[in-house]
Amino acid sequence: MRLIEAEDHEDLGRKARDVVIGVLRTRPASLMALATGNTPVPMFRELAAVARTDPLLFQQARFVTLDEYADITSDDRRRLLSWLNREFTSPAGIDQQHIIAFEPRADHLIECARIEDAIAEHGGLDLVVLGLGPNGHIGFNEPGSSFASRTRKVALAAESIRSNASYWGSEADVPRNGLTLGIGTLREARSILLLASGASKAAIVARLMQGPVGEALPASVLRLCTKAILLADHAALSEVDHLIRS
Ligand code: PGA
Repeated sequence: MRLIEAEDHEDLGRKARDVVIGVLRTRPASLMALATGNTPVPMFRELAAVARTDPLLFQQARFVTLDEYADITSDDRRRLLSWLNREFTSPAGIDQQHIIAFEPRADHLIECARIEDAIAEHGGLDLVVLGLGPNGHIGFNEPGSSFASRTRKVALAAESIRSNASYWGSEADVPRNGLTLGIGTLREARSILLLASGASKAAIVARLMQGPVGEALPASVLRLCTKAILLADHAALSEVDHLIRS
């Protein structure tokens, strides 16, 4: 895993944009899995600005949702697809037909196999952009997830329910289950970009960079991946030992 440092959240958005655009210029028909959450919001804004000036750049790209809440209706306000559409695909003018999204009400076994098949049919993921949960989750792969796990239905960890409460009002408003691309699925991507921003991520970023690699910290799998980049801002890196950063 390679580290790129950003000044702050806005700078992280610009640097993440440059990585995504670099992948698109190399392979215009890329398949990308994109995280939702607060961390990628500046990146989405930057990408949408590029898409407005250069719509052809995104025309052949295809997108897959990294994760989704399970057992909600298709039009539920908490649907993560709606978050992606609001922050990125709508302002960027991306055709809805170009998005492969989890259908939260479908049979989860069939649905997860459908997503895996769609990725395989495309020839694999070209890029995944991940956020970092306060407990080290990537997608909804919570601590204890196998590094070989495939796309599946999972129970959200208590810490994820707590952190997701800020999106929807209270912990009671957070769905208890999710659908997520598996860690094994994500590891097969040709490029992986992990984003971390803000002081609230400083402790988990320090653990990620300095602690042991293991399934207790899902994101630590990326330490084994030479094609993975951690793009983090100064606040998120503030608890990392100086010698490791330099
Ligand atoms: P955040 O969420 O981007 O809103 O911090 C990250 C995550 O929990 O995966």
